[in-house]
Amino acid sequence: MHNAAFQELGIDAAYLAFDVPPSDLAAALAGMRALGIRQLAVSIPHKLAVMALLDEVNETARQIGAVNTITQEGGRLVGTNTDWQGAIAALERQAGADLSGSRAIVLGAGGAARAAVFGLVRQGASVVILNRTASKAADLAAALGAASAGPLTDLAALDYDVLVNTTSVGLREDASPIPESSIREGSIVMDAVYDPAETRLLREAKRRGAQTVAGKWWLVYQAAGQLEAWTQRPAPIHVMARAFDDA
Ligand code: ATR
Repeated sequence: MHNAAFQELGIDAAYLAFDVPPSDLAAALAGMRALGIRQLAVSIPHKLAVMALLDEVNETARQIGAVNTITQEGGRLVGTNTDWQGAIAALERQAGADLSGSRAIVLGAGGAARAAVFGLVRQGASVVILNRTASKAADLAAALGAASAGPLTDLAALDYDVLVNTTSVGLREDASPIPESSIREGSIVMDAVYDPAETRLLREAKRRGAQTVAGKWWLVYQAAGQLEAWTQRPAPIHVMARAFDDA
């Protein structure tokens, strides 16, 4: 996605993947400084550990509790988080969601949930977090200012405008975290899972008359946020989305 965007924008840069074991994380960051690497995207399992090794972690990333992007600015390594922007942009731009004052449900209470809840609360949504382990949902709700929390089974009794799945249910399997009967007609349903492209949750949501946003868009928009953070230019979303499809 990034390389397709560089090509489209005529930027002389290359985006490469590095498999860094946790024991080498500090050395990898020293390498980033020494080599003058402009930006790193940070993925599992480094999103938390990396925070202690940076010169600065911006307020947003600190509140979310995770860094997914490190940008080198004047020799300083600055950590940010574009996962929340990705979730919000996907909902707003792909489904036309008007989040202010909306009732949103987030399924799951892991790292992806933290970003989604942060973004939704920031946009003025009233957020309910539901998780298999309800205590984790309650902790997250308290930390990020969500309205309430509970077990996944609470969904049957709730009305909502937006539903976001951040659990790993449906990842490379034909399974959904919720029964089809609890999907509301006219709601917007987004899945963080992007493999398969259309998860069972999204398929059932369509059948129930909900508007769907595929996980691909969350991924594309968080990558677009990274690109825009250091190029200061609008990311070519559709070029990046096509690169995702091709891959
Ligand atoms: P990520 O960082 O991608 O969000 P994570 O932190 O491992 O991943 O979180 C995974 C989420 O999926 C959790 O909310 C987890 O629920 P628990 O907190 O109860 O573990 C949820 N999850 C994983 N497998 C699940 C399953 N089979 N049914 C329901 N929820 C599941």
